[in-house]
Amino acid sequence: MAGRWTNRLTRGDATPHHLLLMGRRRAMALLGAGAAATGLPAMAADDAPNTPDDIRGYNNFYEFGYDKTDPARYAGAMVTSSWTVRVDGLVDNPGDWSLGDLLAGLEVEERIYRLRCVEAWSMVIPWNGVELAQVLGRLGPQADARYVAFETVVQPAAMPGVRAGVLDFPYVEGLRLDEAMHPLTLLATGLWGEPLANQNGAPVRLVVPWKYGFKSIKSITRITLTADRPPTTWNLTNPREYGFMANVNPGVDHPRWSQSSERMIGAGLFGGRRDTEMFNGYADEVAHLYAGMDLAQDF
Ligand code: MTE
Repeated sequence: MAGRWTNRLTRGDATPHHLLLMGRRRAMALLGAGAAATGLPAMAADDAPNTPDDIRGYNNFYEFGYDKTDPARYAGAMVTSSWTVRVDGLVDNPGDWSLGDLLAGLEVEERIYRLRCVEAWSMVIPWNGVELAQVLGRLGPQADARYVAFETVVQPAAMPGVRAGVLDFPYVEGLRLDEAMHPLTLLATGLWGEPLANQNGAPVRLVVPWKYGFKSIKSITRITLTADRPPTTWNLTNPREYGFMANVNPGVDHPRWSQSSERMIGAGLFGGRRDTEMFNGYADEVAHLYAGMDLAQDF
């Protein structure tokens, strides 16, 4: 899988929005190398990546509280040094992996992805990370593994939301193995070229750009390969409102609000909405994963 999404453009290149968002490797394949310098329309302001301040200041990380500013206020106390990830279940290479060993030798790429929260807001984030597929390749999923489960660290002393019991912790999430192996699925360690801030899920988090943001679990301490579909936090909390699949879908409303459009964080008070796209704009890449499924039923 290594190198499938090699970046050739830089953030400063003028890139039409839909190409920017699809990922640079594919954009370059479509445009031909060098096309970015040939007078393509400049990137519209509302398609530019959000600022580091937006991305680090408006967060969901319920371990630190409900308010969007709680993670930035409290997450600094989370201890992220000497990080290990427990790997277990249906894998050939289980164990307590240091983050360094887990990622050793893998190419860290920049991926500019749109993040669409189920709450109907969105950002554009320049992540740095490795394809999850590369890490899973290293761990060796066994033949009967069909899902990957993830778990977030629990540090009650540092986490007011854990102490208050705002959800059942640890926060858990999961993907089908084919989704986890998809080249768009990232294990991120940074954004805007810097290590992840704690409120963004330091030192390592998942990014699944075609799914609602709650699938992109932060501060991962455990990865388990399973045969059965693993439990996931929001689905456990309210199964009527939050499914396991959680694919971004403007045609399937949340029971309490429309999913047809989204508020763009950082776009100002006026004019900051856009239509939500199927699979968050990544349908060309991922729609085949769901062929034959009823996505209104399997939301
Ligand atoms: N991971 C953990 N452990 N706890 C959380 O509360 N919130 C999710 C996801 N990952 C969450 C989490 C939700 S709802 C969203 S929208 C994204 O993180 C937000 O990521 P960001 O704050 O980096 O933009």
